[in-house]
Amino acid sequence: MSTSSRKIEHLLIVLGKDVEYREKTTLLECVEILHDPLTDADFSVDDESFSRTDFLGFTISMPFMIGAMTGGHPDTKIVNELLAKAAEEFRIPIATGSVKAALRSMGGDPSVADSYIVVKEVAQSVPRISNLGLEDLIIMNEKGKLEDALTEAVDLIDAHAIQIHINPLQEIVQKGYVKQRGLEKTLKKIYERSEESGVPVIIKEVGSGFSPASLNKLVGLGFKRVDVEGAGGTSRAKVEEYRGGYAGPYAERGIPTAASIIYAVRAGMNVIAGGGIRNGLDVVKSLILGAHLAAAALRVLRALFPKRTLEPDYENLRDFLTKMAHEIRMGIFLSGARNVNELRLRQNYVIKPPLIYYLQRT
Ligand SMILES: Cc1cc2nc3c(=O)[nH]c(=O)nc-3n(C[C@H](O)[C@H](O)[C@H](O)COP(=O)(O)O)c2cc1C
Repeated sequence: MSTSSRKIEHLLIVLGKDVEYREKTTLLECVEILHDPLTDADFSVDDESFSRTDFLGFTISMPFMIGAMTGGHPDTKIVNELLAKAAEEFRIPIATGSVKAALRSMGGDPSVADSYIVVKEVAQSVPRISNLGLEDLIIMNEKGKLEDALTEAVDLIDAHAIQIHINPLQEIVQKGYVKQRGLEKTLKKIYERSEESGVPVIIKEVGSGFSPASLNKLVGLGFKRVDVEGAGGTSRAKVEEYRGGYAGPYAERGIPTAASIIYAVRAGMNVIAGGGIRNGLDVVKSLILGAHLAAAALRVLRALFPKRTLEPDYENLRDFLTKMAHEIRMGIFLSGARNVNELRLRQNYVIKPPLIYYLQRT
């Protein structure tokens, strides 16, 4: 099956099937923010000053972004167009799905480039993030074409950053193998290229999170930004099982999102929290643990397609994002803070088991 038709199949599976972790959770429920009713401020759910923050040199309305999902098939253009419309309307960042399918240097089909370019055309005044997979870049590095791929991926949507996703579990469930030999050499080059070009790189998982050891490796290679995408939300292994792959006992493999956020913050990284982010309280909890912002993929997609078919409902997505903004502002105010920075500084929370057990691991 071509990469292009796989994109549509992925959308249909995540809309129609049970693809989330069932036994494992994000463990954000183990973070309890201590209620503080004495905030010295007037509050209204529409007051953006409670949620406004900075990201990649932009001021955004809330610390929330639309996670990497799609592009690469003609039918995905409308999906990216509506997601980009929402990003622009709410002034929040947006990531595309892997752009490999459209890149000449990676053997892609430039005729599907439109499905990504629409993000640049519609989301003109917010941070745009391109996306490629590490395994593909290892292969490109062997061919001496790594720089071409990175440049093309950024240029495609005039991206302000690029995410490099690392997804060995998904790859082995999908294909039975993954090629990661030469990983450090490739990551080193990706980092050097980012330093030269000034386009930040965000290393990203896709739903299994990062351990302290993997984060220390990334820090050692120079990387400063990570999108943790831990366990508790969409399981990419389950998605691939619906496509005939075998995950067996590994379908729920992964480090819960809350633990992965804490590990990444401890490693000194600038952190995007992701994997199972469902509402504004999850975002506020991620921030109080030290994340810079949070991202959601599945919840955003299901808000755009509430009937679970490919019939979009933009108003429903707008309602979801309006509620998200309100919930984030309520959470910040009720924690005794007047803005995102004050929330982070206050650190007024407790951590309950079993999340606490993960913290003993360094
Ligand atoms: C339909 C779909 C397609 C995805 N495609 C990509 C992709 O191309 N690149 C990537 O880095 N992550 C991709 N992801 C993973 C998400 O960005 C995210 O890391 C993961 O789904 C966990 O977040 P969630 O629980 O909010 O869905 C995809 C997720 C979904 C649901």
